[in-house]
Amino acid sequence: MREPPSSGLQLDRLLELLAGSAGEGCSQVELARSLEMSRAELSGVLARFQAEGWPLEVGSDRRVRLTAAADMPVAFRVRPHLSTDRLGRRFHHALRVDSTNDAARRLAEAGATEGTVVVAEEQTAGRGRLGRTWLSRKGKDILLSLVLRPHVDPAQAPGLNLVVGLAASQAIGEVAGIPTDLKWPNDVLTSAGKCCGVLTEMNADPGKIRFVIVGVGINVNGTALPKPIAGRASTLEQAAGSPIPRPRLVAALLNRLEALYLVFLDQGLRPLLERWVASSSSVRGRPILVSNPGRSLRGTTAGLSEQGALRVRREDGRLEEVLAGDVVQW
Ligand code: BTN
Repeated sequence: MREPPSSGLQLDRLLELLAGSAGEGCSQVELARSLEMSRAELSGVLARFQAEGWPLEVGSDRRVRLTAAADMPVAFRVRPHLSTDRLGRRFHHALRVDSTNDAARRLAEAGATEGTVVVAEEQTAGRGRLGRTWLSRKGKDILLSLVLRPHVDPAQAPGLNLVVGLAASQAIGEVAGIPTDLKWPNDVLTSAGKCCGVLTEMNADPGKIRFVIVGVGINVNGTALPKPIAGRASTLEQAAGSPIPRPRLVAALLNRLEALYLVFLDQGLRPLLERWVASSSSVRGRPILVSNPGRSLRGTTAGLSEQGALRVRREDGRLEEVLAGDVVQW
């Protein structure tokens, strides 16, 4: 199993020391001492991290400084805002991965504990629901995946989709201060379009979940989106009118998700459904078209089932429950 290249305590500690030194930077003697390595080893480590793209600079005074990255959701910037017991206590940040869901899955297969988080600045193979590609902008978005090991029946796992979408909408409301709307099953929308998507992938044996990877993509800063999604998608900055601090948003997402996840584990989806429905303008009385491979369904939304399926009143009056699918018109 290959971990994200820049994960690990060494990088976390180095970034923490440099961030703590403000513009002054740190002398290489201090750094080598704090990181318990020789000067030669430190030079190698610095060169490796610089080659990976970390914004480190060695000045003419030989001091090492962090030149940017105030907004990077690295562990030491997220932790001060984190109030969780489980989620995000193990935290990997990478500049670039294929997909954070794949990186998290590799970690889970190697035994990573529940709550392990992978965050990246860039994905080379980001995935969306229903086999789609997820496009993102380097250093501007939140690309986060989480390892969960819920002790629930695999049949209950789809409920997690709703739980994560609800947590994301709460976190966005808290940090960006903007109204959001949930679109079944788990898209978060601003008035300008979709700002967040969730991809939940389960790995189970018969009757038992081994792990679930929860992937969350949020379009956060900047106002320009890649062509294929511009017009349909939105960023939080567009809606809020100013940039949003990504470390705080990552922490809020984990805080909100842990609170809802504990309710889900303890009492199931039922107590959360009402909150979900209250956060969605389209889950009742909205004419929709649901597209599934080989079949599409036209009707009007009629709330959620206890398992979180979307109830649709068909044009012939019959009620159907949609467990998966793409709501293409609403
Ligand atoms: C959707 O289609 O709406 C779901 C999008 C999920 C995207 C996120 S970004 C972080 C994680 N890694 C991925 O490859 N996908 C998810």
